[in-house]
Amino acid sequence: PPDPAAAFKQQAAIQAAALVQDGMAVGLGTGSTARFVVAELGRRVREEGLRINAIPTSIATRTQAQEEGIPLTTFAEHPELDIAIDGADEIEPTTLNLIKGLGGALLWEKIVASIARQFVIVADASKYVDHLGMHCPLPVEVIPFGWESAAHRLDALGAQTTPRRLRDGSLFLTDEKNLIIDCLFPPMTNPDALAADILNIVGVVEHGLFLHMATQTITAGPDGVKVLTP
Ligand code: A5P
Repeated sequence: PPDPAAAFKQQAAIQAAALVQDGMAVGLGTGSTARFVVAELGRRVREEGLRINAIPTSIATRTQAQEEGIPLTTFAEHPELDIAIDGADEIEPTTLNLIKGLGGALLWEKIVASIARQFVIVADASKYVDHLGMHCPLPVEVIPFGWESAAHRLDALGAQTTPRRLRDGSLFLTDEKNLIIDCLFPPMTNPDALAADILNIVGVVEHGLFLHMATQTITAGPDGVKVLTP
């Protein structure tokens, strides 16, 4: 079905892609909004001769970047990036704290975000929330071994947990062949403490709380484009 927010996502994406300058090493995000960023960067590479080296945050984004003709690089060549541009599932506007990972790519996304000097979020304005956890579950990536026990310990932190499944009922596997436990928490008042508690569970690889990481958000909605910094 057509995405009613697609035009807003594209508007935010094109503005963010304009931050990318010649010679930069760029992290490419995952999801429907990040797709517009990759498409615009591909256009600039082909039409403007923009020279960049990119690291994608998922196999899906890698495929798109290759189709767009965007040169890819490695962590060996670029252990640090100039900029990473990615989407988000929830944005808390006062802190720019985020929930990410509804698309399942949170682990690679967080690695890429953590090594980028600028971490720019692109979204439509529907992603704003007063408190994280209001609209969507927090995805937690766990290794397959003992995952039921990890889920049990997430329950004990106050979450209602569901292992993510594909439509055929089989367990969803991330690009790293891990599982995602979707955790419905009450709206979060202390996400830093919750993040620490989750990472304390053995078997948890990462979670979708991206705290104190975004350096800028660019959103678009009926009221126009809004740029926020923390
Ligand atoms: C992928 O794992 C997520 O973190 C995405 O960044 C997130 O789901 C945003 O996707 P959309 O731009 O499609 O909403």
